[in-house]
Amino acid sequence: MTDSLFRLAHWQPEIAVQLIEIHQAALRDDDVDLLRNTPELADAVAAAHFAQKLAATEAEGTMCARVILGTGEAEGRVLGQVMASQIERTHSTAWISYWLRPEARGRGIASAALRQCVDLLHDECGIYRLELGHRIDNPASGHVAAAAGFLREGTERQRLTYGRQRYDVHRWARLAGDPRPWQVSREGHTASHAAGH
Ligand SMILES: CC(C)(COP(=O)(O)OP(=O)(O)OC[C@H]1O[C@@H](n2cnc3c(N)ncnc32)[C@H](O)[C@@H]1OP(=O)(O)O)[C@@H](O)C(=O)NCCC(=O)NCCS
Repeated sequence: MTDSLFRLAHWQPEIAVQLIEIHQAALRDDDVDLLRNTPELADAVAAAHFAQKLAATEAEGTMCARVILGTGEAEGRVLGQVMASQIERTHSTAWISYWLRPEARGRGIASAALRQCVDLLHDECGIYRLELGHRIDNPASGHVAAAAGFLREGTERQRLTYGRQRYDVHRWARLAGDPRPWQVSREGHTASHAAGH
């Protein structure tokens, strides 16, 4: 069961310090998607500031970030992150992103973590519409979105620039009432939520 491989937690200074090594490895491996999703932190003090800033932004209600922490033999190891930023209360929307360190990929962890994050954002944070986007040559990201019940809404032409090249982007979204097949009720029916209505 993938959910037993990790747990979601709030970032803490002593956890955030692992981001230094993750970002450096991304630089070394030229993992551009990981580079763009992780901060460059000079030292433990900068990592502590990063964690404190996330907590403050979350308290303001505009962001919700959860670190994906390993369990069992990988206890306490940062595997990745799921995050809602640009939380906007008038229209009840948020922008979703996620990343995993390379060693944690290929086991369904991003999909399972995003599903837990979807439950948190719709049910506890009361956000109605969740949106995300990824380059069309990043199909793994699209699989993760689909596995968490996002629907593809379109393609933005040449939306992002990496180096000298521009890339088309697939846009996805899900609504609070969209199906969540991972939440099967005791009777065996698929649960459907209407939070936010
Ligand atoms: C996107 C990312 C989180 C996916 O991690 P992952 O471990 O592969 O995720 P999961 O195992 O949960 O699911 C990935 C799915 O994509 C599929 N997949 C993986 N690589 C693929 C590829 N190159 N082509 C097609 N499908 C692929 C997997 O088979 C899996 O499909 P399934 O759910 O049907 O089994 C990871 O690649 C990453 O961190 N990338 C860098 C950051 C990034 O791109 N973030 C997304 C933009 S917000």
